[in-house]
Amino acid sequence: MIEVAVTSPLPGRAEAMLSGHFGLRVHRGAALTGEDELAAFIGAAAGAVTLLANPVSRKVLESCPQLRVVGNVAVGYDNIDVAVAAARGVWVTNTPDVLTEATADLAWALVLAVTRRLAEAEAYLRDGRFRGWALDLLLGTGLQGKRIGIVGYGRIGRAVARRALASGMEVTCSDRAPVGGAVPPALALPLDELLASCAVVSLHAPLDASTHHLLDERRLRLMPRGAVLVNTARGPLIDEAALVRVLESGHLGGAGLDVYEHEPAVHPGLLGRRDVVLLPHVGSATRETRAAMAELAAANVAAVLGGGEPPTPVVRGR
Ligand code: DGY
Repeated sequence: MIEVAVTSPLPGRAEAMLSGHFGLRVHRGAALTGEDELAAFIGAAAGAVTLLANPVSRKVLESCPQLRVVGNVAVGYDNIDVAVAAARGVWVTNTPDVLTEATADLAWALVLAVTRRLAEAEAYLRDGRFRGWALDLLLGTGLQGKRIGIVGYGRIGRAVARRALASGMEVTCSDRAPVGGAVPPALALPLDELLASCAVVSLHAPLDASTHHLLDERRLRLMPRGAVLVNTARGPLIDEAALVRVLESGHLGGAGLDVYEHEPAVHPGLLGRRDVVLLPHVGSATRETRAAMAELAAANVAAVLGGGEPPTPVVRGR
């Protein structure tokens, strides 16, 4: 029987979708974060369902010559060496669309949490310091009439743009704004110009060699004094040490982060700050979305192993 290795128990109907047709092995312990342990687990399987924590590197791909498809349960696939997969004829698939709204909701929640100081206000109340309404208590910054810069105007970036427009913001984007009915109107600007003119910047670009440290210290300092930065994409898009320096200098108004440069580690300079809201990579973490992601990954793997086309390929295999 054709074998599929699944690196973590899957929600929804995903496991049932595979177990009817393939020999399923599901890893139930701590996440497989090492190349050797991941390669040993995948072994002779023809299909693997993987998570972001699993490094599907050259070493893993070369150690698993029977592998025909890697179904990543994520829209991002920077944990997979796609060049090596392509050269070896291994299909790689991801899970776009199904997580767009959940991730955009979380990005927007971070925009509001930072600009309206939600974490700080809640801590204030829980500490027993609330003595009644006051005209100047925990004042935040309004969004209406301000400009948001969306870096990466793909599915999630555009879903954030819809939320920003509904809040009365002017939307700019760093890519050429695609033309078409469903695309929220946005002014396309070169990245430096966008950064220099926006009160809020939200990152939605994929991580690759061209976007690593896209926001370095020079670019962070281009943002206007008091501006807010939100990242629900990938941590290494920002030079995290530079972000700490820029926050410490008082230049930025705050940051909302769901992802980190050396995840799961968080720069110690962020942890004690009141002007940052820090979340543990939960952008797509709704029950509905995670089930839909797992089911799409299962459908991708089942399609390839059944001799068909997967619904959402990233790399076409043989
Ligand atoms: C993804 O899908 O790439 C996210 O980061 C996980 O929610």
